[in-house]
Amino acid sequence: MESSVHLRPLRHTDIATYADWGADRQLCLHAGWTVDLDRFAREAHWLRVLEDGRVLRLAAVRGEEVIGYVDLAGTETDHRELGYVVGPSSRWGQGLGTTVARLGLQQGFSALGLEWIDAEAAETNHASVRILQRLGMTETGEQGVDTYLGVPTPTRCFRITRESYLRQNPVPEGK
Ligand SMILES: CC(C)(COP(=O)(O)OP(=O)(O)OC[C@H]1O[C@@H](n2cnc3c(N)ncnc32)[C@H](O)[C@@H]1OP(=O)(O)O)[C@@H](O)C(=O)NCCC(=O)NCCS
Repeated sequence: MESSVHLRPLRHTDIATYADWGADRQLCLHAGWTVDLDRFAREAHWLRVLEDGRVLRLAAVRGEEVIGYVDLAGTETDHRELGYVVGPSSRWGQGLGTTVARLGLQQGFSALGLEWIDAEAAETNHASVRILQRLGMTETGEQGVDTYLGVPTPTRCFRITRESYLRQNPVPEGK
């Protein structure tokens, strides 16, 4: 599955897909998106995301289909914060979240040349915690409380350094 998913810059033609996901109540609740926004507001939001460009957000694409996105948030040149979403929620549980998040790390370390990448997950966001663990990220502790599924929940923090990433994902010889 992994080889068929790739990341690319967001395009205006992606807006309709992401705006559709805003009608997926399950996705909105898990991702912390506003529920019940009308279509016009959802499209306007995505247009702002695309044109603002403050967060590096890349579309995750399988074949011709947009199946998620990855954020590498921050303005520093040596580190960023990883975020990821798979949509719609009917696609969850097939390994796509792991694939998309892994591509985010690859992008951060190979294309952006980062020294480290941080990520956070709500303690009860079991799928996301599992993904960060499977990616070989090290848990650095808990920081603050955020609302997840409507409940105040401690946030678990993770980090992976370039060195650790390269140790776990050696570049094949000749590349
Ligand atoms: C988090 C999210 C990306 C997971 O996507 P996904 O495609 O379901 O992820 P995967 O299929 O790769 O599953 C990841 C792991 O979580 C486990 N998992 C999935 N749902 C789970 C659940 N409800 N409870 C416990 N474990 C779960 C899977 O079994 C898998 O672990 P494994 O590889 O050991 O079997 C997706 O649910 C999502 O987009 N959520 C909203 C946004 C979000 O929370 N983003 C993360 C915070 S930045």
